[in-house]
Amino acid sequence: MSEKNTLPDEHIKRVLIAADEITTAVAAAGKRISEDETYSDGKPLLLVGILKGSFVFLADLCRSITLPCEIAFMAAKSYYGGTKSVGNVEITLDISQNLSGCHVVIVEDIIDSGRTLSEVARLLRGRSPLSLKVVTLLDKPSRREVDFNADLSLFTIDDLFVVGYGLDCAEKYRNLPYIAEYTT
Ligand code: IMP
Ligand code: MG
Repeated sequence: MSEKNTLPDEHIKRVLIAADEITTAVAAAGKRISEDETYSDGKPLLLVGILKGSFVFLADLCRSITLPCEIAFMAAKSYYGGTKSVGNVEITLDISQNLSGCHVVIVEDIIDSGRTLSEVARLLRGRSPLSLKVVTLLDKPSRREVDFNADLSLFTIDDLFVVGYGLDCAEKYRNLPYIAEYTT
């Protein structure tokens, strides 16, 4: 195992996606976005990162996009009222940009139940951007509770709890340069 994939403690059992695999996939995603015909009209492109989990992914992704773009952040909290089918999403940080003249790409760390992103996407679509797409680093389709899919998903994973590259467990492990499986 290379030094950049060293495991920090006993909760981190194995690296699921190594740092260089992430680098390759992020570069490919940046290239796809840069070459997407949707953005050939030269209108402003706004990348909206969902805090906090997307901050590392967004930082790398935006540097592999060759189009001019702006960056903004939103934050959302999910509440679960009793049963897991009663999900409620509160937007705790919103963007201030007027979206009517620009293309929006929502950048997320992981889609699990799909509740957060379906709500964020619904909200932003209501502000009439020229286009709205969603890119996610990770996707756990087996956990989906609402019908929601990203336009671009870099890695599909099984039903595991993962940390690293921006993703946390109780605010820890965000700075790991790889994606790892967390076990208690
Ligand atoms: P959703 O609304 O259920 O799709 O939840 C998505 C959010 O839950 C993500 O943006 C993450 O912040 C968090 N999340 C879901 N699965 C994981 C995981 O395996 N590790 C860390 N955070 C996760
Ligand atoms: Mg998130």
